[in-house]
This record gives sequence, structure tokens and C-alpha cells, in this order.
Amino acid sequence: MNKTFSIIKPDATKRNITGDINKIIEENNLRIIAQKRILLSTDQAKNFYTIHKEKPFFNELINYMTSGPVVVQVLEGKNAVQKYRDIMGATNPDNAKDDTIRKKHALNVQENSVHGSDSDENAKIEIDFFFQKDEIIS
Ligand code: CMP
Repeated sequence: MNKTFSIIKPDATKRNITGDINKIIEENNLRIIAQKRILLSTDQAKNFYTIHKEKPFFNELINYMTSGPVVVQVLEGKNAVQKYRDIMGATNPDNAKDDTIRKKHALNVQENSVHGSDSDENAKIEIDFFFQKDEIIS
């Protein structure tokens, strides 16, 4: 079993579709083993997305990610990182395959409803950023 980190983003919490996203996650054999609804501070968002700090969309991304509640999650399953990336679909919903979360729900390349880790190494870093060990129940 592997773990990955997920964020259900402000565009999705605003539209009250976290349940639908969780249903897709569970139908695809990933288990939600930790979950909480939080408001990201500007510092937290900047730290989390520090890899994108030179990108032209960085400031807009931080404003968006702090514009409303997010749901941060730890997902567990076989090949969890790749599995969740497959379920999410491409970053830009225009390029996302059918039956993916982003094809169904994302509004555009920024307001793309979900984030998922891109490697096992980053999954660990991202999980540790948001969760204490005793908040995760496998
Ligand atoms: P995520 O997978 O969380 O990783 C970085 C985020 O930046 C991405 O999802 C989008 O929300 C956002 N993003 C990526 N590319 C662009 C872009 N070209 N314009 C605006 N936002 C983007």
C-alpha cells in the first residue's frame, strides 16, 4: 500500500462537490485515511507551491488557493500516487480524459478542483506539511 496527498481546491468546496470527488476517489479503490477542511494562510500556500514561485501564474495561484476552504486528504492504495494522478486527469481540463475528476469538474487550468502529489517523495513531504502522524488512520 502507498500513500498520496490530495487537496480538494476552493473552486470545488465553493460548489459543494467534495462528496462527488470523494465518491470518485473511493470508487477507484483509494481509501481516504485522513481528511480535514482548512483555510490556507498565504504563507502556507506560498510554502506549499514554492516550486512554482518563478511562474507567471504564481501570485494568482496563491490568491486562488487562499480564496476559500480546501479539503486536505491522505489517500491510501496500490500505486496511490500514479492512481490518483490518473483519476484526476490532466492539469488543464481541456486535455483531461473522460471519466476523470478534472474533466468532470474543473473550470480551467487554475481552478482545476484537485491537487495530487507527483511522486512518492513529494507525497511524504506534502503529507508531513499538513498532518500529524496521529491524524492518519490506515
Ligand atoms: P496543481 O496540480 O495543484 O499544481 C500547480 C497548480 O498551479 C495547478 O494545479 C493549477 O491550479 C495551477 N496552474 C498550473 N498551470 C497553470 C497556468 N498555466 N495558469 C494558471 N494556473 C496554473
